[in-house]
Amino acid sequence: TGHALTDRLGRPIRDLRISVTDRCNFRCSYCMPKEVFGDDYVFLPKNELLSFEELHRLTGLFASLGVKKIRLTGGEPLMRRGLPELIKKILSVEGIEDVGLTTNGVMLGQYAQPLYDAGLRRLNISLDALNPELFGKLNGRGIKPDHILKQIDLAQQIGFEIKINMVIQKDVNESEILPMAAYFRDRNITLRFIEFMDVGNDNGWSFDKVITKKEIIDRLQAAYDLEPVDQDYFGEVAKRYRYKGTDAQVGFITSVSESFCSSCTRARLSSDGKFYTCLFASSGFDVRELIRNGASDAELLDAISGVWNSRSDRYSDERTEQTAKNRNKIGMSYIGG
Ligand code: GTP
Ligand code: 5AD
Ligand code: SF4
Ligand code: SF4
Repeated sequence: TGHALTDRLGRPIRDLRISVTDRCNFRCSYCMPKEVFGDDYVFLPKNELLSFEELHRLTGLFASLGVKKIRLTGGEPLMRRGLPELIKKILSVEGIEDVGLTTNGVMLGQYAQPLYDAGLRRLNISLDALNPELFGKLNGRGIKPDHILKQIDLAQQIGFEIKINMVIQKDVNESEILPMAAYFRDRNITLRFIEFMDVGNDNGWSFDKVITKKEIIDRLQAAYDLEPVDQDYFGEVAKRYRYKGTDAQVGFITSVSESFCSSCTRARLSSDGKFYTCLFASSGFDVRELIRNGASDAELLDAISGVWNSRSDRYSDERTEQTAKNRNKIGMSYIGG
């Protein structure tokens, strides 16, 4: 019983994306540009992060409002100590059907097995190029693609379901579209091309740096026959296709060219406990303050429902060069995508 929680546009709350740290060992220019996140950048101190106990409690409350899917993000989530413990706690919450982790993969050698043992089954791993020079430059740390490819092999052997995320920027890594497609098609791993988005206010975005799904698919179709695949679940972010005659799939995340706000069921929790109702929000609701002031479950539920009830976000539907520049938006590494 109970009535389903929906927002002002009738959208239920189904997914919760939890950022577990604002730190990352990469410096991708579209997310944590070095000019902003330099050596003297001050990250959140530990006591400002939500604790695993707080996250466990909040997951239970969100689940009672309709959340079924949890995604752990960062920054780089594996930089948060003891993450497998958190996964166990989250998987024990009634109503949670699916937990995924989005990572740059660098630390999987150390963590893949413990994560699997904790019950995690799904990994989304970011990789923007196979060319060593280019990838080293894109990640800002000189990490070579071979290292990530090894971690992907390892995770696959352990038994994870893996998807690869590739952000495409015009004139930057367009040339990697076909090599990446071929590599992951051969291995039967779903590669998802992500349209470059104007996250935050200093990632250098403009419309003319975006390569759209249409442009990417045109290039793929010159080499392969593709057929559309039905969505996995209501509000799935990626549009997927199958390489005809194989089981291999490829996906597109089209925030810019075909926005998907009308079915957006995603809530976000920043590492310091602010609740956001859109990736492009300017401000969030401070759940941590409520918790640490001793709020009861009923009080927390009331507050969270109130925020979702009044939600009307549809940023990607409204995006223009003006909103991209002038709207004050939170940063990607802080909210985790
Ligand atoms: P699954 O479908 O569960 O595998 O995960 P996902 O694709 O939702 O999550 P992932 O962290 O891999 O995100 C892939 C890309 O989609 C990232 O660039 C995210 O920023 C983007 N993305 C995810 N949710 C949204 C959203 O609600 N709005 C926008 N604009 N982009 C999103
Ligand atoms: N545009 C599109 N995708 C982005 N990501 C980070 N910043 C951006 C951006 N500006 C992607 C990462 C990762 C996922 C969580 O979000 O590459 O795969
Ligand atoms: Fe780190 Fe991911 Fe942001 Fe790159 S996109 S800086 S890997 S959090
Ligand atoms: Fe959801 Fe905001 Fe992304 Fe639209 S732009 S899909 S409302 S998070």
